[in-house]
Amino acid sequence: MPEIALPIRTGRLILRRFEGPDLDAFHAYHALAETARFLPGPAKTYTQSMERVGRYANFVFEKEGDWVALAIEAADDGGLQGEVVLKWLPGCGQGEVGWTLAPGARGKGYATEAAEAVLRLGFEELGMHRIEARLDELNTASAELCRRLGMRQEARHVDKWHYKGQWATELIYAVLADEWRVGQSLKAATPAP
Ligand SMILES: CC(C)(COP(=O)(O)OP(=O)(O)OC[C@H]1O[C@@H](n2cnc3c(N)ncnc32)[C@H](O)[C@@H]1OP(=O)(O)O)[C@@H](O)C(=O)NCCC(=O)NCCS
Repeated sequence: MPEIALPIRTGRLILRRFEGPDLDAFHAYHALAETARFLPGPAKTYTQSMERVGRYANFVFEKEGDWVALAIEAADDGGLQGEVVLKWLPGCGQGEVGWTLAPGARGKGYATEAAEAVLRLGFEELGMHRIEARLDELNTASAELCRRLGMRQEARHVDKWHYKGQWATELIYAVLADEWRVGQSLKAATPAP
């Protein structure tokens, strides 16, 4: 895999490696039950946030199973807005994307903009063939985000997970490199509103 050149700049965001000083801002949104609702574990303790920020800050992307974890910062006012991650899955050029925003950063299109940059990284820089997202069917914000990104719903696994005290149905969305390229060409050819 090639080196990942950071930071990545988009229209409004800077995607960069996590740093120690991100800890308090990271913990502020990961300590919330609302943030944890559709994430695997409970709301994080400070120790768990420390461990996670440390892991993100030191990520290596060398083999299947490794993650790229990027801090999302708004270019105009700095400060941690959330994170976007890309996992290298087993197989030939398979990836999985994930996202979390602080509550105050939602509703502005930041997750869409950051995830688009990560799909570009996966397909154009890392040569991935297919990138998927796995989500709880009740997580409608994530499903809408997948659709904004041009991902197709590929699967619906009823009661696939048991977490947060109940059964959850898993949706899998995915996009292939060729589909993504077609989407990018169409976007480039469409005049801005
Ligand atoms: C999932 C999550 C990241 C989605 O956040 P989000 O703010 O809805 O997504 P975006 O940042 O792309 O913003 C989209 C919203 O901003 C609006 N928006 C405003 N300006 C926009 C712009 N320039 N571009 C795109 N959307 C814009 C959109 O209309 C949309 O609003 P709507 O939800 O009212 O339709 C967020 O809900 C979250 O962090 N949840 C907790 C963690 C979590 O569940 N993670 C995923 C586990 S699978």
